Amino acid sequence: MPIEKTDYIWMDGEFVPWDEAKIHVLSHALHYGTGVFEGIRAYWDGENLLVFRLEDHVRRFLNSLKIHLMSLPYSSKELIEIILTLLKKNRLRTSSYIRPIAFRGLGEFGLNPFGSPVQCAIAAFPLGAYLKGEGVRVCTSTWRRIPDESMPSTAKTCGAYVTSTLAKAEASMRGFDEAILLDSRGFLSEGSGENIFLVIDGVIYTTPIYASILQGITRKTVIEIAEDEGFKVVERDILKSELYTCEEAFFTGTAAEITPILEVDNRTVGDGSIGRITSILREILSKAVLGKIEKY
Ligand SMILES: Cc1ncc(COP(=O)(O)O)c(C=O)c1O
Repeated sequence: MPIEKTDYIWMDGEFVPWDEAKIHVLSHALHYGTGVFEGIRAYWDGENLLVFRLEDHVRRFLNSLKIHLMSLPYSSKELIEIILTLLKKNRLRTSSYIRPIAFRGLGEFGLNPFGSPVQCAIAAFPLGAYLKGEGVRVCTSTWRRIPDESMPSTAKTCGAYVTSTLAKAEASMRGFDEAILLDSRGFLSEGSGENIFLVIDGVIYTTPIYASILQGITRKTVIEIAEDEGFKVVERDILKSELYTCEEAFFTGTAAEITPILEVDNRTVGDGSIGRITSILREILSKAVLGKIEKY
């Protein structure tokens, strides 16, 4: 998926031209993965660019920094202001993706992170669908999500995404669109960059936070929408075999939005088309991101 270049990237306090947003090859984060990031979507409603759940994303970004003992000289209010200014400066008039990243830059040699300064950059560029909107064929991965005791799963840590890229590469080489990772105990965890939901006997299930998931902001919104629509939502451990017999399954994520899962490990999910509950939730989410439903 190509990245569409925009005019500016905000970096360490200033807006710099896209091509000048560079870092040193000996940056700590490049070698050891010592960075945290966010993924945020902004939706163009024909007149305005509306950023979905911006405060929640900035809060998670700052929490990720805190977990990794990093800090920035900016408050959440200032970061929000910078993001909104960046969108204006880039004159984005289409649905877009915003990528803040904070990382350890060039400093001392060695694993001790404290000798390397924390740098920060924010990019924003147009982005359409991340996964196929009509639904995806997925496989369960041979790679497991790293448990929280080894890699903080509530932080969006750069280094943690190596597991996701291995799972995604494996899925792609085997001809699937996406991978589902199990946790270290063997229960379902999540997709390479998405949370997962199943529908069994009309009840909506999603994996719990102790299944090493990233606590998705879309996941939270979808739970809220589903409960408001009168569906029962249960967060519990899910067996791999339940994935093979469920009526519906779908991913949620900022990039993936709600993506129906039509096939898992060569077994058809439901009747192989987008499920009824998935369609209802997707329809409501698509209005919510455009600010058309006030309570969301
Ligand atoms: C590993 C992982 N899980 C879940 C999600 C979904 O989180 P959100 O809905 O906050 O984008 C993402 C995307 O950020 C992710 O990378």
